[in-house]
Amino acid sequence: MTSDFHFYEPRHGHRLAHNPFYAIMGPRMIGWIATRSKEGVDNLAPYSFFGAYSADPPMIGFTSEGWKDSVDNVRSTGEFSWNLVSRDLAQAMNLTSQSVPAEMDEFELAGIQKSECRVISASRVEDSPVTFECRLSELSQLRSSSGTSLDQWLVLGEVVGVHVRKNFLEHGVYQTAKARPILRGGGKAEYFEISSALRFEMSRPE
Ligand SMILES: Cc1cc2nc3c(=O)[nH]c(=O)nc-3n(C[C@H](O)[C@H](O)[C@H](O)COP(=O)(O)O)c2cc1C
Repeated sequence: MTSDFHFYEPRHGHRLAHNPFYAIMGPRMIGWIATRSKEGVDNLAPYSFFGAYSADPPMIGFTSEGWKDSVDNVRSTGEFSWNLVSRDLAQAMNLTSQSVPAEMDEFELAGIQKSECRVISASRVEDSPVTFECRLSELSQLRSSSGTSLDQWLVLGEVVGVHVRKNFLEHGVYQTAKARPILRGGGKAEYFEISSALRFEMSRPE
């Protein structure tokens, strides 16, 4: 009997040309995370295992697959900023994903202009349409369903400061598509750009 569905148990492999997980769970917002080491070196890196978890207070988070510089800095300082990646910043964001020594500042590496945050001690991407300044609320090591500790680290932070470029506000309403955010798709290189053509409205049932 043939089935309309390809079924697999991830622990036994997907039996496809590419792991579909990334393409299915996509496109994903990119957490472009700026941190500062305790030695004072600025760090900037993209994380697409990224999301919003609460609106009041606003909380966001990202997962580091392995113990990376960003999570190490957040553990030391308790602070990070999230910077929205617009289409114009795509190449620069990509450059900051390089694996470089902790002493290297990825703002300088990628030629990105930085500004100081206002309520935390970290930098932000000056040309980004939006920056959230965040304070660490939880740093958790993920566990599998059988309780095995994984080398996956979830960082959750409360948004304690918000910078929104005024040209993305119209009559007090933030214009999501105008900022042209890019999102991560599947495969090695797939991205999507948000534009107003993709927008539709649907109200909740009464
Ligand atoms: C678009 C994009 C998304 C990424 N998402 C993640 C992610 O969710 N988790 C992760 O561990 N690495 C992710 N990476 C890889 C990291 O950016 C890369 O390992 C980087 O060197 C980490 O920098 P850091 O050590 O300065 O924190 C991503 C890379 C790109 C280009």
